Amino acid sequence: MAIVKNHSGCYVQFTVLFLIGSLLLFPLPSQSSDPDPLQDFCIGDTKSELSVNGFPCKPATKVTSDDFFFDGLSKEGNTSNPFGSIVTQGNVEEFPGVNTLGIAMNRVDIAPGGLNPPHSHPRATEIGVLINGKLLVGLITTGDVYYSKILTPGQMFVIPKGLIHFQMNIGEEKALIFTAFNSHLPGAVVVPLNLFLSKPSVPDDVLKKAFQVEKTVIDEIKSKLGA
Ligand SMILES: *[C@@H]1O[C@H](CO)[C@@H](O)[C@H](O)[C@H]1NC(C)=O
Repeated sequence: MAIVKNHSGCYVQFTVLFLIGSLLLFPLPSQSSDPDPLQDFCIGDTKSELSVNGFPCKPATKVTSDDFFFDGLSKEGNTSNPFGSIVTQGNVEEFPGVNTLGIAMNRVDIAPGGLNPPHSHPRATEIGVLINGKLLVGLITTGDVYYSKILTPGQMFVIPKGLIHFQMNIGEEKALIFTAFNSHLPGAVVVPLNLFLSKPSVPDDVLKKAFQVEKTVIDEIKSKLGA
């Protein structure tokens, strides 16, 4: 038996079974994101041919101040593309200093009328702050419920891990967002690109049936997305 004093001063008894049950439940992957680091830092050697759960660490003797800093998000991205938006990533692939730390950031530039199309991050929850512009942020749950809000500068949003979401610039000016993730490599499944521009292609019959349209519609979508 274990005895624990709770916040209201009462003693609560837990059976051994309950404790063991809690210990077993605690490390479930659904309750955590990237695993905790096993050392102070592990600057990713992104060129290594070895593959582990993350990148191998650059030798500590070769680590310099620059390894902990990154200026890749300082420049505005080029939004001249069919969506009118561009994501500049600050994950472990661009910023090896975040390797194994369970954290990453992006900047998203969106032209007026532009859209960061519906996508999901399979490995991370996302939190974001709007710096410039007027932004419609929407997310859809696994139960097909749609939640959304129009944000102005300084306002924030959160996207629970894995859920489909988007950001649309509904203002007259350029929109700028900075987003953060609880994974060093959140991954992004951009729904239209994932389904219509994969290599090799998803069979047309699958797309026709999934969206209940003719092949001409599939062809039109693919060509407009730049297939
Ligand atoms: C942005 O991208 C477009 C299309 O690729 C290109 O024509 C244009 O020169 C680029 N603009 C800048 C400022 O790099």
